[in-house]
Amino acid sequence: MLSRFRFILLALVIALAGPALAEGPGKAAISSAHELATEAGFEVIEKGGNAFDAAVAVSAALAVVEPASSGIGGGGFWLLHRASDGFSTMVDGREEAPGAATRDMYLDENGEVNRDLAINGPLAAGIPGAAAAWVHISDTYGKLPLAEVLAPAIRLAREGFPVDVKYQQLLNWRAHIMLQWPYTAAIFMPGDELPEIGDVIVQTDLAATLARLAESGHDGFYAGETARLLVEGSRKAGGIWTLDDFANYQATERKPITIEHGDYTLLTAAPPSSGGIAIAQVLNLIEPFGWKAMGRVDRVHLLAEAMRRAYRDRALYLGDPDFVDIPTGMLLSDDYAAGLRSTIRMDRALPSSHLAADPSRLRESDNTTHFSLIDADGNMVSATLTVNLPYGAAFAAPGTGVLLNNEMDDFSAKAAEPNAYGLIGFEANAIEPGKRMLSSMSPTIVMGPERVAILGTPGGSRIITMVILGILDFLEGNGPESWVSLPRFHHQYLPDEISAERAALTDDEIAALEARGHVVSVRDRPWGNMHAVMWERLTNTLSAAHDPRLESGGAEVR
Ligand code: GLY
Repeated sequence: MLSRFRFILLALVIALAGPALAEGPGKAAISSAHELATEAGFEVIEKGGNAFDAAVAVSAALAVVEPASSGIGGGGFWLLHRASDGFSTMVDGREEAPGAATRDMYLDENGEVNRDLAINGPLAAGIPGAAAAWVHISDTYGKLPLAEVLAPAIRLAREGFPVDVKYQQLLNWRAHIMLQWPYTAAIFMPGDELPEIGDVIVQTDLAATLARLAESGHDGFYAGETARLLVEGSRKAGGIWTLDDFANYQATERKPITIEHGDYTLLTAAPPSSGGIAIAQVLNLIEPFGWKAMGRVDRVHLLAEAMRRAYRDRALYLGDPDFVDIPTGMLLSDDYAAGLRSTIRMDRALPSSHLAADPSRLRESDNTTHFSLIDADGNMVSATLTVNLPYGAAFAAPGTGVLLNNEMDDFSAKAAEPNAYGLIGFEANAIEPGKRMLSSMSPTIVMGPERVAILGTPGGSRIITMVILGILDFLEGNGPESWVSLPRFHHQYLPDEISAERAALTDDEIAALEARGHVVSVRDRPWGNMHAVMWERLTNTLSAAHDPRLESGGAEVR
């Protein structure tokens, strides 16, 4: 009798709970900006590694084969989710200002920003964080030894990889700077020429640098020969790095920004990224308006108004949380959202000048990289990495093969002046020794009862709005092919305009938005390079997609 009762109870529980959801997808999926990096991830998974090992392998391989976008001389944010206990964390390997950095270090005698110093050569570089993050992820969350995880990247550096269109195009932009540094040019543009598509780039010194990291872990980069060569090379060329800066650098774990949105839980980037807070604010602001049922013009208008307000707050409040008190509780509260919402009119744009602010400068670029991956057990990584401008500072420290970032340019170099992207910033993001510069990188994981999305993209100030559009598309039921290829639009408070890819808005839609008071600026150049993965738990199906805007990506399920 008792066992019959138990059987009925179990049947009832199963019926009420619905169909069983898979614990893990049983396969892995990786989407990155380069097929050789995606392959490196699968290689370590096939050797018994988990998603976290794969994340280090993909990051290190991207550092070799996509040097324009990220590297061991740069930094990034790795958002990790562990399936076994539901633990999530963000590994912050963001660069930080060297100890000798000063608030006005990029100002000339007239108080103007010296653009050359701020973006070109070693003075533009923060202390790199990528290597510390790789070691931390591998030691804390991986299954394989670091040396095994770095092996594919070391091989790619030693044996070389073929030049593709993106390598060539972005180098074309930075070549005139790189040519000032013969050691750097010899690696990336042999013979001082732009390489042809298919030419093989061999990075022998980088292979040795990676091998020292593989052998000695954190100290293999932040002490010993690598640190010495980086500091010496940087200082000889006008930099201010010291061995102490390297000895002091540590990757940090941050609690991801967590957003409950209906049945979905979003995990996204915490400060020093501005992405998570801005995404949360936009979703909070738009929800009660019933955006899903809106027509295109109403929806673009509403999103632009929400983006405007979130980017205003980004400029006012956000910076390195170890240096500034960020009022996260207030910014994410329902009361604050209600107050901001009350300033949104559906028939009229509010000029940004009517939202109080005291502009100062904040800079960042649009070249970065993102990958998304999941392993067979359901461990997930969403990671966005950068050296800032293409090829970073365009300077590699002799003997190391390490291209330095120019991430110092993401600080506010001078108050009250918009940057090349028109972003503004305040005191919270002023330069201070040891401080991490504000970022827009927004690696994100959205977990629903039946579907999970892993997504992110490069794209400077537009990263956040691209991720928001991807999230909304996912929430509407679409898959990663759709998120990555969606035509994009964006508002960032200042400049006070909706910028849009050509395919994003019809002429009639533009006219309707203009009638509400918006300035609409259509761009011919597409933006972003989104890499995304979806796991449908109900059918236990994985899908991976790379942005069609660039052809070199590798998205695969195995
Ligand atoms: N350098 C771009 C960013 O961190 O947002």
